Amino acid sequence: MTSSLPVNLPSGKKGRVLSGARPTGRLHLGNYFGALKNWVSLQDDYDCFYFVADVHALTTVEDTVGLKKNTREMVLDWLAAGLDPDRSTLFIQSRVPEVLELHTYLSMVTPMGSLQRVPSFKEQFRARADSMNYGLVGYPVLQTADIIIYLANKVPVGVDQVPHVELSREIVRRFNGQFGEVFPEPDALLSDTPSIKGTDGDQKMSKSLDNHIELAATPEETAQRVMSMVTDPQRARRTDPGRPWICNVYALHQIFSSDDYTKTVYDQCTTAAIGCVDDKRALADAINEHLGPFRERRAELATKPKLVEDVLAAGTERARAVAIRTMEEVRDRIGFF
Ligand code: TRP
Repeated sequence: MTSSLPVNLPSGKKGRVLSGARPTGRLHLGNYFGALKNWVSLQDDYDCFYFVADVHALTTVEDTVGLKKNTREMVLDWLAAGLDPDRSTLFIQSRVPEVLELHTYLSMVTPMGSLQRVPSFKEQFRARADSMNYGLVGYPVLQTADIIIYLANKVPVGVDQVPHVELSREIVRRFNGQFGEVFPEPDALLSDTPSIKGTDGDQKMSKSLDNHIELAATPEETAQRVMSMVTDPQRARRTDPGRPWICNVYALHQIFSSDDYTKTVYDQCTTAAIGCVDDKRALADAINEHLGPFRERRAELATKPKLVEDVLAAGTERARAVAIRTMEEVRDRIGFF
C-alpha cells in the first residue's frame, strides 16, 4: 500500500480536529456547554477546522429559511466565545464544492445496510422510508467527506454522534481498501460535556422545542426564560421542601453559581428556606453575570460590518486549498482519465 496524504500540521499541534454545526442562528446554553466550549479549548493543542454545515441544513427544509442570517448569528457567537480565526480555520461547507464530489465517490463504497443501521435514522427508515429524502439517508456520507477531505483525524462529538464517526471509519476502510491508503481513519474525541436540559426541565435544551436560553439574549430575556422554568412538581407550596437533585434550576446553579452559593441553594431548597421564585432570580443573575463579557464582545463584533464575511472568506480559502489537493490525489487513485 502507498502511504496516505501528508497532513501538514502546524508545528506543535497534536492532530487535526474537524467539526461542524448546522446554521441554527443564535446559539443557546446547550450548544455552548455541549460543543462550542470544547471547540474553543481544543484550539490550544490541535489544528482546528470548524465549519457551517449549510449543505447538511438542506436535509431539513425548515432550516433553509434565513440561512444567511442564521450563519452570521452563529458565527458571531463562535467568535465571541473565543474561536480564533488566526488559529482555527473557520469556513462554509457549501463554498468547498469539492466535498460534494468526494461525497459522491464515497457513496459508491457505502453499504446501504450501514446507513439503515445508523441509530438516529433507524426509526425513520422503519416508519417512513418512502418519504425520506436521499440526502438525509446520505447525511453520514457527506459528514464523512467533511471530515476526511481535510485529512482530519479527531472529531469532537457528543455520544449520540459516535455511531456516525464509526460509520465514517467504515467508509474510510472501504475506500482505502479499494484505492490505497489515502485517508486516515478519524477518531471521535469525546469530552464529558454536561447535557443541558431546557426550561421545561425535561427535554434536552433545543431551539426547536423553544425551551432554550440564548447566549446572546438580553438580561431581561434571560430572566424571563429562567422565571418560566419548570421546577420540582412536588413542591406545590412555598413551604414544601424541594428536591434539588431533580430540579433543572439547581442543575444550572451548579454551572453558573459559585460552589458555595450552590451549596447554600441546596440547603435552603431542601429545608424550604428559599422559594423557587427567589432561587430563579438568583440563577438569572448568575447567568447574566457569567455571560456579561461574552455579550459585550459579541455586541462589539456585531458592529463590524464585514467581519463575519471576511473571517469566513479567509478560512474557506485555506480549507479549500487542502480540499483541492486531496481531490487531485483521490481522482488519481480512482484512476479517472
Ligand atoms: N452533524 C452535525 C450537526 O448536526 C454537523 C456536521 C456535518 C458535522 N458534518 C460534520 C459534525 C462533520 C462533525 C463532523 O450539527
